[in-house]
Amino acid sequence: MPQIVVLTGAGISAESGVPTFRDADGLWEGHHVEDVATPEGFARDRSMVQRFYDERRAALLNVEPNPAHLALAELEQTMGEALLIVTQNIDDLHERAGSRNVIHMHGELLKALCQSCGSASTWDSTLLDEPACPLCGVHELRPDVVWFGEVPYEMDRITDALADATHFVSIGTSGAVYPAAGFVQHARRHGARTLELNLDPSEGSHFFHESRQGRAGDLVPVWTREMLWH
Ligand code: OAD
Repeated sequence: MPQIVVLTGAGISAESGVPTFRDADGLWEGHHVEDVATPEGFARDRSMVQRFYDERRAALLNVEPNPAHLALAELEQTMGEALLIVTQNIDDLHERAGSRNVIHMHGELLKALCQSCGSASTWDSTLLDEPACPLCGVHELRPDVVWFGEVPYEMDRITDALADATHFVSIGTSGAVYPAAGFVQHARRHGARTLELNLDPSEGSHFFHESRQGRAGDLVPVWTREMLWH
């Protein structure tokens, strides 16, 4: 039985209408990344950062999974836990498509992290109004997203899965941000067949055995069908 690790990035959600990061001159919906995706930016202007993520959380209501998310969910129905999705995305489109075995290494928009007690709570409303933590009652909630300078979630589980993988597939990511950008080399060192599916060659394209260029909505269903016939 193959063991597949799929790494996804912003490109897989692009066709759903969720903007990518690096396709607009390093600006993220008009903001500099260091202002809205670092602990320092949050300390500097808490309201601006809360508003920024509140808007993105609200925008999730207007997007739907696309054929790439759906094809991965369908593959999981056959493969079960032998398919692990590691996503850098903070949207919930993999889950809405039906995927269950998903690690959000950069956190989730639909969770709030309490800076006082450290607990993460499911969250679908705003944080700008500084609501109380449902567990400890302190008003110190922030988006449960991993910012630059912070350690991604579940790295031990991810590196173990990469070492056991027979196939590693990277979808819709520019390969600009570590540690995710290094997963291909880790998996390949441990014997995995490596494949990239991206609109254009990523920064780490040469690390993959094979690289296919195109839209995720077109490429992913083709690849999942190949795996099902395997
Ligand atoms: P990027 O915006 O860096 O890269 C998105 C990639 O998707 C680019 O290589 C695009 O060419 C490709 N792409 C765009 N549309 C596509 C489509 N329809 N089909 C396939 N590919 C498409 O986003 P990420 O690589 O996800 O981290 O960025 C990685 C991390 O940097 C993010 O998780 C975030 C960001 O700063 C944190 O916030 C910690």
